[in-house]
Amino acid sequence: MSRTCLAIILAAGDSTRMKSSMSKVLHPVAGLPMIAHVMKAVAASGVTDTAIVVGRDADAVTKAASQGGLNVTPFLQKERLGTGHAVLTAREAIERGYDDILVAYGDAPLITEAPLKAARAALAEGNDLAVIGFHTASPTGYGRLLVEAGELVAIREEKDASEDERRITRCNSGLMAIDGRKALDLLSRIGNSNAKGEYYLTDLVEIARSLGGRAVAVDAPESELAGCNNRAELAIIERLWQERRRHDIMVSGVTMIAPETVFLAHDTVIGQDVVIEPNVVFGPGVTVESGAIIHAFSHLEGAYVASGATVGPFARLRPGANLAEGSKVGNFCEVKKAEIGKGAKINHLTYIGDAFIGAETNIGAGTITCNYDGVNKHETHIGAHAFIGSNTALVAPVSVGDGAIVGSGSVITQDVPADALALGRARQEVKPERAPVIRERNLALKAAKKDNKR
Ligand code: UD1
Ligand code: CA
Repeated sequence: MSRTCLAIILAAGDSTRMKSSMSKVLHPVAGLPMIAHVMKAVAASGVTDTAIVVGRDADAVTKAASQGGLNVTPFLQKERLGTGHAVLTAREAIERGYDDILVAYGDAPLITEAPLKAARAALAEGNDLAVIGFHTASPTGYGRLLVEAGELVAIREEKDASEDERRITRCNSGLMAIDGRKALDLLSRIGNSNAKGEYYLTDLVEIARSLGGRAVAVDAPESELAGCNNRAELAIIERLWQERRRHDIMVSGVTMIAPETVFLAHDTVIGQDVVIEPNVVFGPGVTVESGAIIHAFSHLEGAYVASGATVGPFARLRPGANLAEGSKVGNFCEVKKAEIGKGAKINHLTYIGDAFIGAETNIGAGTITCNYDGVNKHETHIGAHAFIGSNTALVAPVSVGDGAIVGSGSVITQDVPADALALGRARQEVKPERAPVIRERNLALKAAKKDNKR
């Protein structure tokens, strides 16, 4: 498509119904602000330039919208006078002259590039206006599409609709493509004599037709067009997003035993033949390579899991956890900012943070890297083929060489050379026949207490 296109994203709403201290478009879906999801789709659809109409939290909204690398020009809508007024706020951008103007809403994050392209394709066919519509069982609140003989003749807002019109179930998604050469003229003719006293963008349909132009409606699935007005709708959008992404991931070769209990982030990458057991949560920034297993009840965030590695059950991988091939992080283990070498095993009840662990090393149950001194973080280096006995405290900064063994229960405060045995614990004492003496003493104490009570 060689036609130029300006995308205008409306995000100036007050978000009153969200009852929130921040703009609705900043609320995350799969860990990414809604507006950034919209921008991803806009970028994928191949537009020339992007403008965003902002009101509340203008700076934060512009920043979130720029995340995907798009060059976004913000326009501040000082008063919220309606969607038609909002689009005209970007007048300066429209005046630069484009073949297509594409309008989308910042609060409809399920959008994909397909309907955006479909709307523009309708302009390329010679229409002045293309509106993306959808069929729904619950049309209340949406503008209704009035279609006659294949042409869109009007969009009627709920509040202005007649009884008959309200029965129409084909609705306006808000997504619209406008002939860029006519857009300014059409937009400046919008008035505000309607039930809400707002400048309705939807009036463009009748305006374009009154000037001899042609408008069409192009349908897209409701699941891509749902908008968010309150937290209940936010949860529905999150569910729809999760369902879609789980489906895509399963179809790409990933096994999920109970997909409805697995939560993915916007950027989760999972390779073929990975198995994900029930109740696993992926925060942002996780990559799992082919053949790895994520056991039940694990929580991963900012982590890399190489081929054939095993995580969980009940494991927590925090940012910077980097598991090499065939390594294992087992139950009730937490790993943060640490390289876990090939085939290394951290099987039970352990905290590994700010650490390097060599290949094939075994970390015993209850081992803790004491990485924080209350002010600074320090590193622990452990070589390859080492063995750290259960319940060891490694007081960082400290290192343990290749092939070294640390005895169980040690507090390691000094470096351990390769192949050394380190013991950092009190020597055991054994006192023969001493137990009965202690037992007698304790029984006498108990009897004395009873006597006192009487
Ligand atoms: C709008 C449409 C309706 C459609 C529905 C789909 C109009 C008149 N109506 O209604 O046909 O079915 O969306 O969800 O267009 N905004 C601004 N500035 C404003 C007003 C709105 O930036 O002055 C932004 C909002 O932040 C939001 C979007 O425009 O992202 C839609 O506004 P909203 O008030 O939610 O429109 P609806 O009444 O839902
Ligand atoms: Ca709305």
